[in-house]
Amino acid sequence: MSPDPHSLLLFPAASGRCRSCVGRVTNLPHDGRVEYRSMLAGGRARRAGRRSAGRWGSSQYVGLGPAPGEEHGMSLAESWDRYAIGSTPRRAENANGDTTWLNWTQYADHGPNESLLGPVAGRRVLELGSGSGSNVAHLVTRGAAGLGVDIAPAREAAARERWGDLPGLEFRTAEATAFLSGTDQTFDVVLSIFGAVWFVDPETLLPLIRSRMTAGGILAFSHLPAGSQGPRPGRAGMRYDHSPSAWERLLAGHGFTGASASVIDPPEGRTVGTMLVRAVAV
Ligand SMILES: C[S@@+](CC[C@H](N)C(=O)[O-])C[C@H]1O[C@@H](n2cnc3c(N)ncnc32)[C@H](O)[C@@H]1O
Repeated sequence: MSPDPHSLLLFPAASGRCRSCVGRVTNLPHDGRVEYRSMLAGGRARRAGRRSAGRWGSSQYVGLGPAPGEEHGMSLAESWDRYAIGSTPRRAENANGDTTWLNWTQYADHGPNESLLGPVAGRRVLELGSGSGSNVAHLVTRGAAGLGVDIAPAREAAARERWGDLPGLEFRTAEATAFLSGTDQTFDVVLSIFGAVWFVDPETLLPLIRSRMTAGGILAFSHLPAGSQGPRPGRAGMRYDHSPSAWERLLAGHGFTGASASVIDPPEGRTVGTMLVRAVAV
């Protein structure tokens, strides 16, 4: 079986030296810089990694942090740039021989395609945490006008190099909440595949997303199911691993209707499925 892009690439060690801390993102100002409250490994850190946050479900500390005393002040963008270094470019073709495709899951050639977004031709599509840009690029090949926003400058560079010739597709380096707060653009479709929706407090992000969406627009996103991956000491960053019912309540509370969230089964021989969430902007 071909390698899973996400299981290979999610949370590679941001620093080989950073194995003794977890950090808590204590704020997320719009320049994308975070403050970390680091804790030494051990009981305190493990308890922190498991803590519950918010009304709707749990969140965990993962990925991407500075070691205490070494790299405090490293911006979130710099952390994600480090992460990008470990990423493998998408294959030139999938199992069907297609050169572009959209994959919601962490497994190659698995799961639903873009059809859950409805027809995208002529629609304005935003991907939050677009990485190498391949998913939003696929939607542009289907007639959408696409914008990929990612906090990591290296991602924009790679996406432009790979997809820069595709008319109707743009990439921008920006933190998701900063972009949404500052833009006057509106979007018919917003998607996030293991992207910013997983990493930013939904109480902050969902209202911002809704404010930039047209009524009747579709929001869809995916991430690992809650509890499928424990806290990873030595890396930092908040991940919002909500349950399906928690996502449905959150979305209903922030201007979305018809929210459906469920875990897609993994392919045979694998144990971890994929949380897939879809809702309609009211
Ligand atoms: C696990 S990768 C997934 C990338 C891509 N969606 C894919 O499926 O390959 C997460 C991406 O989200 C971006 N990201 C994380 N937090 C973000 C934020 N707050 N704003 C914008 N991008 C963010 C990272 O830089 C990274 O490229």
